[in-house]
Amino acid sequence: MHFYRHGLTGADAKAIADVLDTPFLTSGAVGKKVEAMLASFFEMPHALLVNSWTNGALAALLAMDIGPGDEVIVPAQTFIATANMVELVGAKPVFVDVDPDTLLMTPDMAARAVTPKTKACIPVHMYGLMCDMKGLRAALPSSIKIIEDCAHCFEGTRDGELPGRHSDMSIFSFYATKNVTCGEGGAVVLRDSDLFAKLQQTRQHGMSAVAADRFKAGQYRHWDMGRLGVKANLPDLLAALLPQQIETIRERLPQRTALADRYRDAFANLPIRLQRLESNCVSAEHLFPIHVRPSARDAAIAALNAAGVPVTVNYRSVPTLTYYREKYGYGPKDFANSWEWGEGEISLPLWPGMPDEDQQKVIDTVKAAVVPLCR
Ligand SMILES: Cc1ncc(COP(=O)(O)O)c(C=O)c1O
Repeated sequence: MHFYRHGLTGADAKAIADVLDTPFLTSGAVGKKVEAMLASFFEMPHALLVNSWTNGALAALLAMDIGPGDEVIVPAQTFIATANMVELVGAKPVFVDVDPDTLLMTPDMAARAVTPKTKACIPVHMYGLMCDMKGLRAALPSSIKIIEDCAHCFEGTRDGELPGRHSDMSIFSFYATKNVTCGEGGAVVLRDSDLFAKLQQTRQHGMSAVAADRFKAGQYRHWDMGRLGVKANLPDLLAALLPQQIETIRERLPQRTALADRYRDAFANLPIRLQRLESNCVSAEHLFPIHVRPSARDAAIAALNAAGVPVTVNYRSVPTLTYYREKYGYGPKDFANSWEWGEGEISLPLWPGMPDEDQQKVIDTVKAAVVPLCR
């Protein structure tokens, strides 16, 4: 049984072969086409491909001139990359706890963490469920930039709206297990043209012209470096895998929803917790997390693995990991909801095309081997 399988096929290999037939392997015409598709999908003026969410966030923070002395609000319940990029630019990640049921940072929680040093806030759409972006924008001073961490939420909506409507930027991940993937990759989608111009530079060492522009029409062009940046561009070789997935992502969501609903039905009224969905949201159902009594978690994982069910943990509470604990002195009680969830979370297999019998085996194993540990 697989924890996850991508939906790439032989047709996608052909897209890579087509790039190999051109002399240009790095960011060029294919990437530009995908960026136009993304801008159109999200109905936003600008989209820029990057080689990971992580490097996209680094380029974004540099483009926003966020650095030493600044604070950025992040949820305690997320993948480490969200906070790490803030640390890397020399700013301080200010953690806030999450709602114990939805596992999302709420507008109130974020507003309480604002100080005169706050420059940005990075809400995370955990497991595919979108944060209350409209509420967050209203709750924060307008000077504070909002960067949506959409690593789990490409196709999810809240009140019928896709990511990007109420923020300054949305950053996506195309990592190997994401709903849209090219192995490693990502994208930044945004409205503001000045910020876009800066991001184009910080994505590419701060250079004023990317390779494709330096050699346009057989004419070499000089370039300058006006700001500091990173190397975060996505090569066409990987971008070539994306168009087919962007075109079909809305068709694949019902498959994820059906699998997640089947888990939710099977686990209702058992002594395990599930993320509470909100009725005005359509989750992208990126992962299917369950929560068991923390003292039973490792035994539960061992029992699932012994039965041939691959599982993982997404994620332990970030401020209590050694680096953050030692640097800022956080303890479990500081972000109690996140800590409690992170100590008992287990992610179950879920991917479009997962065979019914595999899912039944996961359900049966949870009922037979995990539930008794939780009583
Ligand atoms: C919530 C969240 N943010 C950011 C990232 C980082 O994405 P990437 O691997 O594309 O850098 C991930 C990856 O798993 C994630 O889950």
